Amino acid sequence: MPANHRKILVTSALPYANGPIHLGHLVEYIQTDIWVRFQKMRGSTCWYVCADDTHGTPIMLKAQEEGITPEELIERVGREHRADFAAFDIGFDCYYSTHSPENRELAEEIYHRLKAGGYIESRTITQLYDPVKGMFLPDRFIRGECPRCGAGDQYGDSCEACGATYAPTELKNPVSAVSGAKPVEKETEHFFFKLSAFADFLKRWVHEPGHLQPEVAHKVNEWLEAGLRDWDITRDAPYFGFEIPDAPGKYFYVWLDAPIGYMASFLHLCREKGLDFDEYWGPDSTTELRHFIGKDIIYFHALFWPAMLHGAGFRTPSAIHAHGFLTVNGEKMSKSRGTFIRARTYLDHLDPQYLRYYFAAKLGPGVDDIDLNFDDFIQRVNADLVGKVVNIASRCAGFIRKRFDNRLADSLVDPDLFIGFLDAGERIARLYENREFGKAMREIMALADAANQFIDERKPWVIAKDPARDSELQAVCTQGLNLFRILVTYLKPVLPRLAREAEAFLDIGDQPWPDVATRPILGHRINDFKPLLLRVDPAKVQAMVEASRENLAPGAAESAAVEPIAPEIDYSDFAKIDLRIARIVRAENVEGADKLLRLTLDLGGETRTVFAGIKAAYDPESLEGRLTVMVANLKPRKMRFGVSEGMVLAAGPGGKALYLLSPDEGAEPGMRVK
Ligand code: 2FM
Ligand code: ZN
Repeated sequence: MPANHRKILVTSALPYANGPIHLGHLVEYIQTDIWVRFQKMRGSTCWYVCADDTHGTPIMLKAQEEGITPEELIERVGREHRADFAAFDIGFDCYYSTHSPENRELAEEIYHRLKAGGYIESRTITQLYDPVKGMFLPDRFIRGECPRCGAGDQYGDSCEACGATYAPTELKNPVSAVSGAKPVEKETEHFFFKLSAFADFLKRWVHEPGHLQPEVAHKVNEWLEAGLRDWDITRDAPYFGFEIPDAPGKYFYVWLDAPIGYMASFLHLCREKGLDFDEYWGPDSTTELRHFIGKDIIYFHALFWPAMLHGAGFRTPSAIHAHGFLTVNGEKMSKSRGTFIRARTYLDHLDPQYLRYYFAAKLGPGVDDIDLNFDDFIQRVNADLVGKVVNIASRCAGFIRKRFDNRLADSLVDPDLFIGFLDAGERIARLYENREFGKAMREIMALADAANQFIDERKPWVIAKDPARDSELQAVCTQGLNLFRILVTYLKPVLPRLAREAEAFLDIGDQPWPDVATRPILGHRINDFKPLLLRVDPAKVQAMVEASRENLAPGAAESAAVEPIAPEIDYSDFAKIDLRIARIVRAENVEGADKLLRLTLDLGGETRTVFAGIKAAYDPESLEGRLTVMVANLKPRKMRFGVSEGMVLAAGPGGKALYLLSPDEGAEPGMRVK
């Protein structure tokens, strides 16, 4: 192997094993897969590993909800994930599970090494505990009033209304989202990873070239400047995960063993293929380690992870490649709009190659969000792939079959044009290497335009009319097919299926990346041409959206835990509450708030603005015009986004399972509810 031969280990973030793969996930897997396929084509040794992220409270609770064991749940979801990835041609070398013997082995080893290095500290902390369910509550499973602004129904760690962050123990009137019980404070012993001990190391690591994208390095630097807090890596039973050695009833927090899952998946591959694990993970490794992730998990990958690896005597990553989120038609994916699309639903309606190409055409090396706009999607796939690339083959193949018994000519008519196509290879390769996929697609499409222009100018359909020009016809079509062959080879990291089918049509083997030494295929017999890709049918896109639209009407959403009845009150207490019928005149999203809608309410002459945490449950447009019930004499509350002048009434545990009250027909805005 040449001295500069690259050995690369690549990962994508591990998807949680409690939900299906959706198009948002696929941005990352498609991006990573394209990069890996490109490296493999260029002759590098490149391994792509991933796994299901199987531990943690949400997975434990979801299994309970379904009445199955967590093992059964993760087995089923794992199967579904694998099938979805395979259908989208995501070519993992190993797709594993964090609930594996290798991961336990490595998590324990890393823990022991960190402990031996003095990086694990035990502290007694106070946490909220659900006395009904008998478990400590993660922040996300506690709801209550914000200690700063008083907004109701806030999570245990931060307030959506005023942006405050706090400890769950500071929340007022907290309620367990698991059982509805009032949590109690309870002490427990937890182990902390001393992230603060790695501040100097991380400051150096973050600035070393290549590790982080510039905008990411900037953000991480802000975190470093603000100071690093030690990290609680413990969770108490009941928990689905790995029990901490020598600490019965204590488990590793899911985020400790998740990135170790990258190593475990690779270790599994090493054992299967006889590879040298230490060559990739040892402290002196000269191989590359690259993690593709979403921008929401940078903290874990750019701070905790390098510190853990360094502290435990392993090599640190060569690069973290973060990408942005997916929006659909310019908006956050929405279940009610039908734009929260599962991989499986997509596959029921459309060819996965369309999405691979579309994402490639939109992806760059930065962390900007990318938008899937359906009109643009249809137009671009049809124009580029069907109208430009596949069209070249279909314009030439018919003549070769009918007139020359599928035999290509012995020479090209324009060898310089062919060489020009080869010359573009290094430019395109550089773009792939730097994750400039959008630019790479534009370069390739410019070549496709040139190939079509060649055919337009040579007019094989005119030549075909003159039998004396037979050899010219054969050479022109042979040229067209050779240009097509180079194009599909450049597209192969993005469209491996199309490339494979094109190779079968041309009856050539697995094509390596073209270079100046690539010879045209001449005097060779090809196979009959079959359409390689159909046009995107807009009706199918529409059908996919309809199939994804979730009916959020009462009864369709998640079941609610029954809350215990509150203590008794006098009628006079109740009479203090002035409930009124209100008409929702306007409902709008609130910039920067994930859960809130701004409602403009008509109370029969008087207008009120109310911020309501119902965004997950309702599409704003669907609310406009309807009647509901509001508390009209609630003291106005100043929130981060404005003053809320009252409260609308809704039932349910929260999130999307929230149901606004409506009066019977005949009620009018302003009527008092008694
Ligand atoms: O955010 C997530 O979906 C996590 N399951 C990603 C884990 S990535 C890695 F660290 F394991
Ligand atoms: Zn608040």
